[in-house]
Amino acid sequence: MRDFGNVWTRNAIAIYWKTFGKAVKRPGHDKMLSKTPSSIRLSKSCLTDAEKQAVMAVLDREFLGMGEEVKLFEEELSTFFGRPVACVVNGTAALHLALQACGIGRGDEVLVQSLTYVASFQAISATGATPVPCDIDPETLTLDWRDAEKRITSRTKAVMPVHYSGGVGKLDEIYDFARTYGLRVIEDAAHAFGTKYNGQLVGSFGDITCFSFDGIKNITSGEGGCIVSNDEEIMRQVQDARLLGVEKDTEKRFQGQRSWDFNVTAQGWRYHMSDIMAAIGRVQLQRFPELAVKRQNLARYYDKKLSQLSIVTPLAHNYEEVVPHIYPIRLADGTSKTSLRQDLLDFGIQTGLHYLPNHCLSFFSPSPNYELPVTARVYPTLMTLPLHPDLSTEQIDLICDRLSSY
Ligand SMILES: Cc1ncc(COP(=O)(O)O)c(C=O)c1O
Repeated sequence: MRDFGNVWTRNAIAIYWKTFGKAVKRPGHDKMLSKTPSSIRLSKSCLTDAEKQAVMAVLDREFLGMGEEVKLFEEELSTFFGRPVACVVNGTAALHLALQACGIGRGDEVLVQSLTYVASFQAISATGATPVPCDIDPETLTLDWRDAEKRITSRTKAVMPVHYSGGVGKLDEIYDFARTYGLRVIEDAAHAFGTKYNGQLVGSFGDITCFSFDGIKNITSGEGGCIVSNDEEIMRQVQDARLLGVEKDTEKRFQGQRSWDFNVTAQGWRYHMSDIMAAIGRVQLQRFPELAVKRQNLARYYDKKLSQLSIVTPLAHNYEEVVPHIYPIRLADGTSKTSLRQDLLDFGIQTGLHYLPNHCLSFFSPSPNYELPVTARVYPTLMTLPLHPDLSTEQIDLICDRLSSY
């Protein structure tokens, strides 16, 4: 998911508020208008002076590539998860490398829910394999393994559960399913940094878990991502493949050197993380307890406020365990999503759509009449409300008031 980036729309809102501002009167909304800020962002990076100073320290050292900071970030993340970690340039690269390290390539198939960011699909197709779109559980909006089971063929090599919005659904059932069919599990945990499942941190168990640290994720390193696994061979391959396949270059880079005399035995990519990114990530990891609690408390606050409204239903997350990345809601039948989103936008409130199902995209559509009944039913009712640690409860009041008067 990216920042709300439509410049035209932002400009239109700015012009709207500049031109009409508080002078625009709608019946019953005078009070709200006078409180309405020019824009409530759907998501944003939440940074302090500490991140800025950390970046400045790297710039002062004049070593910007992959070195000491990345090494330390990996060590700190390894302590956090209790497992080896490899940092890369983004979450898509993390998924791509994890799949490649599992030996997945041309002719193979990977089961993945259609309702996910296109990054999950692109990471699979980047290996030459085919992403097989699957349906979702209507409650958690995570992969429905019973539907996935129907799509298994002799070419199926892996399953990619996507931890939609930060929740993981019935992950133990997905692992049972994978064991039954001998599949690798590559968890797309881009949304779920810090989430626990039955008291265990996502990433601290399972086969391979991939995170994203892009600008708006639960922690950010500007862009960035990581692969977490206890599988030594996977981690060795990932470490080499992120540095163009140069064998053992990671060790050299961590000492501020590089390999001159080396061998390459597999396809590699320019996917390593830079020290500038790691410097931001290290501060964010330290701040994570505070950032996580803010996200959880804001989601709880939304839940409470929205429980009084019949037109919307939030996802039923247990925020003792889930650290939410986004706050999607389902609209009641008969509510026009387009008109509601426009109404909120008129009040400076940005909303999102997570996500246009991938089987509807030309490049990933297996056939024109490919059917995913739950996804088809759920997607038209889905929209996302603003959520980020700098959001205030007053802003949530405003959003909920607006939803209520719609
Ligand atoms: C579900 C999901 N998977 C993967 C990614 C890819 O992460 P990145 O943007 O860091 O490449 C994202 C990013 O938004 C995502 O939302």
